[in-house]
Amino acid sequence: MLPKPHGGKLIERFINEKEREEILSKGYREIEISYDRAQEAVNISKGLFSPLTGFMGKKELISVLNNSRLPNGIPWTIPIVLDISEKERKELISEEGVILTHKGRKTAFLEIESIFQWDKEDFAEKVYRTRDRAHPGVSRTYGLKDYFLSGDIFLLEGIQEPFPEFNLSPKETRVLFEEKGWKKVVGFQTRNVPHIGHEYIQKTALTFVDGLFINPVIGKKKKGDFKDRVIIEAYKALMENYYPRDRIALSILPMEMRYAGPKEAIHHAIIRKNFGCTHFIVGRDHAGVGNYYGPYEAQEIFEHFPDLSIEPVFFRSFFYCKKCGSIANEKTCPHREEDHVNFSGTAIRKLLIEGKMPSELLMRPEVAKTILSFDNPFVE
Ligand code: ADX
Repeated sequence: MLPKPHGGKLIERFINEKEREEILSKGYREIEISYDRAQEAVNISKGLFSPLTGFMGKKELISVLNNSRLPNGIPWTIPIVLDISEKERKELISEEGVILTHKGRKTAFLEIESIFQWDKEDFAEKVYRTRDRAHPGVSRTYGLKDYFLSGDIFLLEGIQEPFPEFNLSPKETRVLFEEKGWKKVVGFQTRNVPHIGHEYIQKTALTFVDGLFINPVIGKKKKGDFKDRVIIEAYKALMENYYPRDRIALSILPMEMRYAGPKEAIHHAIIRKNFGCTHFIVGRDHAGVGNYYGPYEAQEIFEHFPDLSIEPVFFRSFFYCKKCGSIANEKTCPHREEDHVNFSGTAIRKLLIEGKMPSELLMRPEVAKTILSFDNPFVE
């Protein structure tokens, strides 16, 4: 049995033609929102963020920041909020609703619940545990506008979403998993091209379940991360050559990376539960950046969420051990550090920048060749 969506039921904020006409006939004001916020409105509508039905209000925000739970007690760690400017606040203050637009599309209708000021430092401290602007998530937080607009969302025209051929909604992934007869599905979060360490944790987890759901985050990342198209093509190359077709599915998670480490790991797990996963992989420094979080803090945080209803699958850091002659980690290998070759993203990236193939111990040649076929595979 696939798990129930978070909060018990899959949220869908779609409306029929008549309802749409009615909204559009009322002459609501329009505000242009960023790509990330527009994608989030779409994600709410498709139920990726079930049980959320809209952008959070003050009560929800405070509860999420202080307790990592929604006011009704359901786990939730990352605020889903819509920032607006002082000018927009004045325009909307006595309005009941607003059309959110993005690049010429009427993305969604928002039924205005409230507009409120928020504290950027407090937000940064509670989500990222730092106010350091060098942290990419914190720096984006400081870049948001001064007010939050909250209220329920109704999808209108959406946005032009990336990779439509790999962009399944929770409703669609659930149908897919059922069709494949998978009862246990493990979700894999990634923002990277796959190295052998990634492959190893995925396949180890797959040994114990029916299906592997590879679900790369596609959206805003930080400088030096791999470009979205490169990640997709690299996974296609890996899957074609090394994975059993009937036990894997690849679909994207269109969302920005926040690099919030432990709190983002819970957020990632909740979304995968909504997609229908029973299990979720959390390895070393999940969703981390720099040295802001300990290597296993994103695993430890799950102790505080026994009611999450998706089983986390934890892995210690994998490396290649020359003495073992295989992939190993501290739980399985007795040898010294000098015998270990780490799957260092930085080292692999350095080789690729120089146009060199990483060792086959670190990366499949088909994957490396695919990455090298791009002029510049990195986010600038
Ligand atoms: S993340 O920001 O999406 O977490 P990445 O794509 O590198 O970054 O990692 C995807 C998943 O693989 C995460 O759960 C991460 O902890 C795990 N992972 C990556 N490399 C290793 C490794 N060498 N050993 C164990 N787990 C790893």
